Amino acid sequence: MAGMAVDASDEPMAGAPMAKERTDLAGQTNQADQRGHVLVVDDNRVNRLTLARGLESQGHTVALAENGERALAMVRAEPFDVVLLDIVMPGMDGFEVLGRMKADPALRDIPVIVISAVDEVESAVRCIELGAEDFLPKPFDPVLLRARLRASLAKKNLRDLEVAYLRQEVTLRQNEKLATIGRLSAGLAHELNNPAAAALRGAGLLRTAVADLLDAQTRLDALDLAPAERAALHQLDATARARAADPTDMDAIAQIDHTARLETWLEEREIARAWEHAPTLASLAFETRDLDAVRRTFGDARLPAVVAWLGHTYTVYSLLEEVAQGTGRIAELVKALKTYTYLDRAPVQAVDVHEGLDSTLVMLRSKLKHGITVRREYARDLPRIQAYASELNQVWTNLIDNAADAMEGKGEIVLRTRQDGEWVVVEVEDNGPGIPAASQSRVFDPFFTTKPPGAGTGLGLNISHTIVVRKHGGNITVASEPGQTRFEVRLPLRLPPAAPDTPGRAPPG
Ligand SMILES: Nc1ncnc2c1ncn2[C@@H]1O[C@H](COP(=O)(O)OP(=O)(O)O)[C@@H](O)[C@H]1O
Ligand SMILES: [Mg+2]
Repeated sequence: MAGMAVDASDEPMAGAPMAKERTDLAGQTNQADQRGHVLVVDDNRVNRLTLARGLESQGHTVALAENGERALAMVRAEPFDVVLLDIVMPGMDGFEVLGRMKADPALRDIPVIVISAVDEVESAVRCIELGAEDFLPKPFDPVLLRARLRASLAKKNLRDLEVAYLRQEVTLRQNEKLATIGRLSAGLAHELNNPAAAALRGAGLLRTAVADLLDAQTRLDALDLAPAERAALHQLDATARARAADPTDMDAIAQIDHTARLETWLEEREIARAWEHAPTLASLAFETRDLDAVRRTFGDARLPAVVAWLGHTYTVYSLLEEVAQGTGRIAELVKALKTYTYLDRAPVQAVDVHEGLDSTLVMLRSKLKHGITVRREYARDLPRIQAYASELNQVWTNLIDNAADAMEGKGEIVLRTRQDGEWVVVEVEDNGPGIPAASQSRVFDPFFTTKPPGAGTGLGLNISHTIVVRKHGGNITVASEPGQTRFEVRLPLRLPPAAPDTPGRAPPG
């Protein structure tokens, strides 16, 4: 079985559930004989029938093939649990049937027991080397037949279970990835919502604001302004535009006082809709002395038209600013999303680790916003590394997400990077409660979680481990005490030469 334990060897867990299923099954196989669907391949009719009778008496179902071609057609057409294969046959012999079965991923796992006469032991050995499970000497001994078949069927059964388990695990991992994407998109939707609403509101209000401004402009044009007055208007326009782009925050009380002062000033000059213009002029940071200056330039008669024009001008600039900021923020989020997912880029790239960390922070912003501060201690001139960009982001997401969960919304996360020879080291540290010593060795195990159902799957760190160790030939470790938990990820500058996903590749370092 050892060779078959797929590639769990460098996983820190050796899969508790898998181990359990194995023992269950082993216990079960000892209790009763396995019954299976057996294909007997022999050109000798007497041999075929003898074997069939023996097998059927042991409870198996049997199909017969008289040559190699027929045998291959049959294993392709229906599922067999084991094949009993004669070696010497006219046409396609046993070697070739075996070779073709082992070369075909769909047939590779069906155990083959070769039937050999005593003087064919050499051939039987060769068949075993070619991947046959076992051999059965002629003439047939019912006890031996039963034993060999039982062993093969038990192994086949285990293998089937293992495949089923691995399939299930793959599904779970994909589900975890989808769940993460789901959580991130919920956060992102939340982040997009405010700027989108602001832009939409601004665009809506601009419709009336532009109409109002055109109106005010028409009235102003009717006044036949002198060149000096036109120059003064130009100046006011520039001020309004600059203020809109850079509004000063004023506390609420001061703002009310300011507005009240302006409103009184306007009312005293009998300017219509003073209540409407006063707040706008206040946002514009106009003081009464600025209004005095306007009055001196334009005179009392023209003052109302100029004030109205100024107010509407400022309103239009402010709304344009609001739309620009909202859409700018949306564009920024979309850009981060693109970086995060590395949309339409090759899976293996020269990755800027900082870029990945930053886009992950944007994606997690709504989770980190309240009460959690993030400090970035990035190394200068950190080299790019050859890596699977979007999978690394999955690692950063899991680590930062866990840190935020652990701190329950309050605390500090430090992201640290450095180069260490041929390695790039990334640390994610938090000042949360820490991981109890007894759990530290288990956090990378699949399904280890201390979170309530629905909140945690226990797969985040396991998946991160697989990505770092197995896909990148790196290393991930944790050091934790109350008040400080630090995950350290070491990644080689270049991916190791072995093909990614190669089972059992030893992690370097
Ligand atoms: N920064 C951390 N601080 C404290 N505990 C942590 C931290 N990171 C991980 N853990 C522990 O490790 C467990 C496994 O993490 P993970 O594999 O991401 O699964 P999940 O987050 O779904 O529980 C968590 O449930 C938690 O108990
Ligand atoms: Mg997690």
